[in-house]
Amino acid sequence: MPTRSPRSLIVAPSLLAADFACLKDEVAAVERAGADWLHLDVMDGHFVPNITFGPPLLKSLRKHTGMPFDVHLMIAPADPYLADFAAAGADHIHIHPEAGPHVHRSLQAIKALGKLAGVVLNPGTPVEAVACVLELVDIVMVMTVNPGFGGQAFLPSMLSKIATIRAMIDATGRDIRLEIDGGVAPGTARQVIEAGADTLVAGTAVFGAKDYTAAIAALRADAG
Ligand code: DX5
Ligand code: ZN
Repeated sequence: MPTRSPRSLIVAPSLLAADFACLKDEVAAVERAGADWLHLDVMDGHFVPNITFGPPLLKSLRKHTGMPFDVHLMIAPADPYLADFAAAGADHIHIHPEAGPHVHRSLQAIKALGKLAGVVLNPGTPVEAVACVLELVDIVMVMTVNPGFGGQAFLPSMLSKIATIRAMIDATGRDIRLEIDGGVAPGTARQVIEAGADTLVAGTAVFGAKDYTAAIAALRADAG
């Protein structure tokens, strides 16, 4: 049985599931409801089969919330845009190793911008993709759906990967968060926390609910 992480739980609602006609209000509502971070899914219609938004949207929202911006780049290439996202208000910048030929260099660039650096593993990406760059990483994010869309079904086959990465992180002795993205809801939240996660992205489970406070509380309760 994997050991449960003693770290405090972070809940990061994903803006992808919000009402795009009133984003400022949606962000304020999840902040009041107890969200820790705001997760922002940037998609280019090339790396993933969907298109969302870019730095101007971050810049507009940045004035209206104190929550850290957890920016998930599903774009290729990502390198030419890192500085723009940092300037627009990103606090954490996550990249997929498949988005460019030099993931180590991309992570160095994020660190040089003074931001937390994240590596994201698709369901089909092995843990080895992060092993050699762990020294540069502040957050490892494990996708529990294929990236591109909200509201997909959680992939339970990713639980063993989460446990493996937990052990890799613990072996470093460093303060690296383990974040889970995709299909997180009461029920699956408990499973990923038990596997060793400490940070939950939740789109549909929060923005799809009538009462955001109750939805975030339900995630925390399920996580234990
Ligand atoms: C998918 C995105 C997720 C998405 C999660 O590509 O990275 O952040 O918003 O949505 P839910 O929580 O609905 O699975
Ligand atoms: Zn995401």
